Amino acid sequence: MAGYALNYLALAARDVEAACRFLGGSLGLERTDVALGGGTVPFFGVGRSAVALFDPYDPYLDEPQFPGVHHMALAAPDPAATAAAHSLTVTAEGAGPDGRRFVVIDPRETVGIRTRFIEPLDIPSADGPAYKIDHLGIATDDNDATVRVFSDNLGCPVESTQTDVEIRNVTESFVSDKYGAVYHSRPAEILGGLRDVFITIGDCELEMLMDYDPALKPRDGLGEEKGNTKGDQSAIAKFVARRGPGLAHVAFATRDIDALLPKLADDGWRMIDLEGRPGGRGSLIGFVHPSNFGGGLLIHFVEPQADGGYTAKFG
Ligand SMILES: [Fe+2]
Repeated sequence: MAGYALNYLALAARDVEAACRFLGGSLGLERTDVALGGGTVPFFGVGRSAVALFDPYDPYLDEPQFPGVHHMALAAPDPAATAAAHSLTVTAEGAGPDGRRFVVIDPRETVGIRTRFIEPLDIPSADGPAYKIDHLGIATDDNDATVRVFSDNLGCPVESTQTDVEIRNVTESFVSDKYGAVYHSRPAEILGGLRDVFITIGDCELEMLMDYDPALKPRDGLGEEKGNTKGDQSAIAKFVARRGPGLAHVAFATRDIDALLPKLADDGWRMIDLEGRPGGRGSLIGFVHPSNFGGGLLIHFVEPQADGGYTAKFG
């Protein structure tokens, strides 16, 4: 296989217990408690990788410690040699979950995407409504730099690229009882948008998200509306301004998003979306509200095009 595969994704939640109920209870992901630092950490197998849940101030997490998607760990049998082979600077190393050796890569060399190499953990996973990680959402201001790191240097393939824009078309009409009607269309106007690059890491992708054109913002109430393309641009720009570029959210693949989102609401989870809306790569997407987990941790679902996606609902 080309490049490296995601071994686990570290999520930090203020309310770890709620996040465990969400992943293990409502999504039915298989839980494995893995020994770390005298205690255990809950891991949830999903597809060919896993998500691990930490308190934001867990000593295993390097600075800065915050709720959200903290780091990704790529599988490498010899973590230190792997970092050296790619000329990446190691800022910390040690024995992690289940005693597996790991190294922490200087985030300044990975465009802010906190990355570790780790001796692979084998966390079992079961099929269910969330059958794998679809992608890790990454807020950047330089997609080309991420391609140089993860594709040119580490050898992970670019899966696809995409440009999303929200365009406003305005037509004026002038209707006279004596002189007839005149219709005048103004030039189309781009309100906002994103440039995406998808890079494969195992059975999921990194999704780099960058403003379509930073000079466009703010414009026409940009960011006041959730769930549209210009609102998404504003959300990415705000994330980069507040926290710098890096891991922003995690998305799980599901086969029927219009069944899953209302089911989660029935389970008592606060949802941003109750039905799928257009997302990247011909998919449908729907977001879970971060307040369920104490704030800061953003999760969404994806019904990929291969499972029906946008075409099945709107096509
Ligand atoms: Fe996403």
